[in-house]
Amino acid sequence: MIEKIDKYIHEINNLNPLTEEDKIQFHQTYLGKSGIVTQLFTEFKTLPNNKKKDAGKSLNVLKKLILSKQNSTNQNKFISEKKTNIDFTLPSNFESVGSEHPLSKVQNKIVNIFERVGFVTSEGPEIEDDWHNFSALNMLKDHPARDMQDTFFITSDLDTLLRTHTSSVQTRYMEENTPPIRIISPGRVYRKEAISARAHCLFHQIEGLYIDKNVTFADLKKMINYFLESLFGKKVKTRFRPSFFPFTEPSAEVDIYWGLKTETDYRITKGTGWLEIMGCGMIDPNVLKNVKIDPNEFSGFAFGLGIERITMLLYQIDDLRLFFENDIRFLKQFKSLS
Ligand code: DAH
Repeated sequence: MIEKIDKYIHEINNLNPLTEEDKIQFHQTYLGKSGIVTQLFTEFKTLPNNKKKDAGKSLNVLKKLILSKQNSTNQNKFISEKKTNIDFTLPSNFESVGSEHPLSKVQNKIVNIFERVGFVTSEGPEIEDDWHNFSALNMLKDHPARDMQDTFFITSDLDTLLRTHTSSVQTRYMEENTPPIRIISPGRVYRKEAISARAHCLFHQIEGLYIDKNVTFADLKKMINYFLESLFGKKVKTRFRPSFFPFTEPSAEVDIYWGLKTETDYRITKGTGWLEIMGCGMIDPNVLKNVKIDPNEFSGFAFGLGIERITMLLYQIDDLRLFFENDIRFLKQFKSLS
């Protein structure tokens, strides 16, 4: 009997790796109800006692071999097919990993600063209607302020357009929610501008809105100063200049002191050392009425800023077009920067 078992062991060792179909056949032949193993065990029982020890050992070796052959076939197959042409000692190909776009980096930074003090992100559509982008924000049909924002209209009745600012998200949010409201809205905006180093037909803005009882201009100043200190460092010098926006009254523009150390500083600050960073103001009571919020009960402030402008300042980038060209030599410089 031992010779018989050895013959099977030899046979199995010489078998090629099993395919999935082979496996079924193999199982039936060796482990099936009337398969070889069962036959051998029946025969084993008839052996005289002095032969049982050695025959039992061989039988166990055979059984283990059958099981391991069954389980290892796929792996064997893989290795036997591939082993001839793979050199495992060669260095691997270096797959380069992408990184966050500089505009996303700065946008996330700004959003985080506001989230820390309880603002939530709210986004709106890039294709807007006249009401949400203009009219509700106090820019009626022939309001001269519309000229400040050269618009891409989509329909000839001039009602559907690509939003010219993220202030449109304010309108939508105020219509659907009741105060207290505290939102931050990043997004892409569009204007009919000739493309140059300093202007583009698409860019990104972040809009902020805060409405509650008794919100004052002092709250607005405190919030903006907190934001600018978080972004540019505690030592940043800021100033508020009176300005005009149709949807806020009073309105202001905020500048930071950039300095006049280099020739570029002279150019970008027009020789003053001050740089305009954002617009802001107290929400005009008319706007609140348009969205059915009672201006006698609630007041609020809003602010808006351009992400490209801030990114250009933070990373000393002098051409706006670089953001949209996806030149890998430009983008990969931001990989390790925080
Ligand atoms: N929407 C303005 C723009 O695109 C930016 C802005 C200014 C937003 C003042 C505001 C604000 O919310 O209060 O130029």
